[in-house]
Amino acid sequence: MLAFQSSESLLTQTFNLNIGLFLCIIDLVSAASASNFASIFNLPVTSSSNFTFALNIPNGSTDLNFHLSGPTDYSWIAVGTGDKMKDSLMFVVYSNAGQNNVTISPRLSSGEQEPVYSSSISLDILEGTGISNGTMTANFRCLNCTSWATGSLDLQSASQSWIYGLGPTGSMCAMLRSNSMTASIERHSEYGMFTMDMVRATGSGGLPTSYTASIGSALSDRGKTHDSNWPSIIHALSACVAFILLMPTGVAFLRIAPKSVRWHWINQTSSAVIGLIGIMIGFYLSTMFTKSQNYGSAHQILGIVILIAVLAQWIMGFSHHLMYKRYQSPTKLAPVHRYFGHVIVLLAIVNGGIGLTWSYASKSVIIGYSIVVLILGVISILLFGWSRWESRRNKKEYINPYELESFRGIGDIDGN
Ligand code: HEM
Ligand code: HEM
Ligand code: HEM
Repeated sequence: MLAFQSSESLLTQTFNLNIGLFLCIIDLVSAASASNFASIFNLPVTSSSNFTFALNIPNGSTDLNFHLSGPTDYSWIAVGTGDKMKDSLMFVVYSNAGQNNVTISPRLSSGEQEPVYSSSISLDILEGTGISNGTMTANFRCLNCTSWATGSLDLQSASQSWIYGLGPTGSMCAMLRSNSMTASIERHSEYGMFTMDMVRATGSGGLPTSYTASIGSALSDRGKTHDSNWPSIIHALSACVAFILLMPTGVAFLRIAPKSVRWHWINQTSSAVIGLIGIMIGFYLSTMFTKSQNYGSAHQILGIVILIAVLAQWIMGFSHHLMYKRYQSPTKLAPVHRYFGHVIVLLAIVNGGIGLTWSYASKSVIIGYSIVVLILGVISILLFGWSRWESRRNKKEYINPYELESFRGIGDIDGN
């Protein structure tokens, strides 16, 4: 009986051991398959971190498992289908408002402009998603991503095209932190193209546990491109320099030195042209972002008001000048032109500030702008205050520029 019992327990033990070994082998095989059945694209983007994208397609399923990770140094990170923005299905990932998790926003792109959130793309968030040690990670399953309104994925392709994009870094632009999937994103600081072996990505096992090596992927010939929002920088610089620096200088040419109407109109005409070119670039920029495409923002409306005001101001100045030349006496347009000019500069200062906050400029850029505006404002108030004080001292509330000695000979448009 005893002998029977012990041989029976021996049998049971051996059986258990075999089962254990078997399960162990299954674990090993599935661990191996976890990395086998996934394609991984790894791209070093900073000295210590990578942009990583991995894909697993479970056998016989159209559900796709995605892993996307990259440094929080970038305002957002994104991957998209295809070899260009147009018609791409994109996944944009950024920090949530609390900076303790990520927001994953599926978007569709219609061209080289901000992609638009698509509520019809269904995502399940998977374990491992979050922010840790300066890396944002998004693990998710997409239930209907093999085809969408404007395209589809080729699951049999050994070199399916993909694109990636990295948002701006913090020096010029405030970091995006939002829980909203429709949050505005700013133009990339880098983008690129790569290919992935979709066949290698197909199989059971879900997402891999390690992403250190690239598997079944390659950076395309066109590789990566550094980019910036240069139209926005040119727009901001030309509009601000023209309206906030050059136009007050034109007033100084009239009232301080060389007290010349000619210098005034040449300067004001050139700065109006520079400002108008800046505003035209503003119209081009407006086509690029969802927030600006309907021209309803305070910045755009005020900008258009300034555009009309500058044209009116130029016409007024010119008409006043022609009439003065004809009748040799000040016109009713003169005081309107005078005060309207100051209003334009003030509106432009306000609009520059609104533009900066609207386009998520960093705190340092906004502080820099405020300091420059303050310095220019103080200089203008001191100079023009002094010029007023001078004219009051001479018992004259208003000095007609054409009557000043220094205008003779150089003040007229035609030089007479
Ligand atoms: C506000 C958002 C975005 C804007 C305004 C934008 C704008 C642009 C513009 C103007 C270009 C042309 C650049 C040139 O030719 O020099 C471009 C190219 C590109 N962008 Fe974007 N982009 C945005 C978001 C994205 C995202 C989220 C991705 C990645 C998923 C991306 C990937 C690319 C790629 C791969 C190219 C080169 C191929 C192509 O021209 O389509 N972009 N983008
Ligand atoms: C006096 C007139 C204007 C001034 C001084 C001005 C100034 C600025 C400034 C300083 C920025 C911030 C740029 C940045 O942070 O990179 C900006 C952004 C912008 N402006 Fe203007 N602007 C003016 C008129 C306009 C007009 C008339 C439009 C279009 C109708 C326009 C469209 C835009 C757009 C779309 C942006 C956002 C760009 C982005 O998000 O990157 N602006 N503007
Ligand atoms: C859009 C462009 C222009 C702007 C923003 C502008 C702005 C100004 C401003 C602010 C003043 C008042 C200076 C003061 O404080 O006394 C002024 C005065 C004057 N401007 Fe212009 N100006 C422009 C174009 C012109 C043009 C094209 C002409 C002539 C061809 C002109 C002729 C004058 C004259 C004659 C005065 C003196 C008016 C008076 O006090 O009797 N301006 N302008």
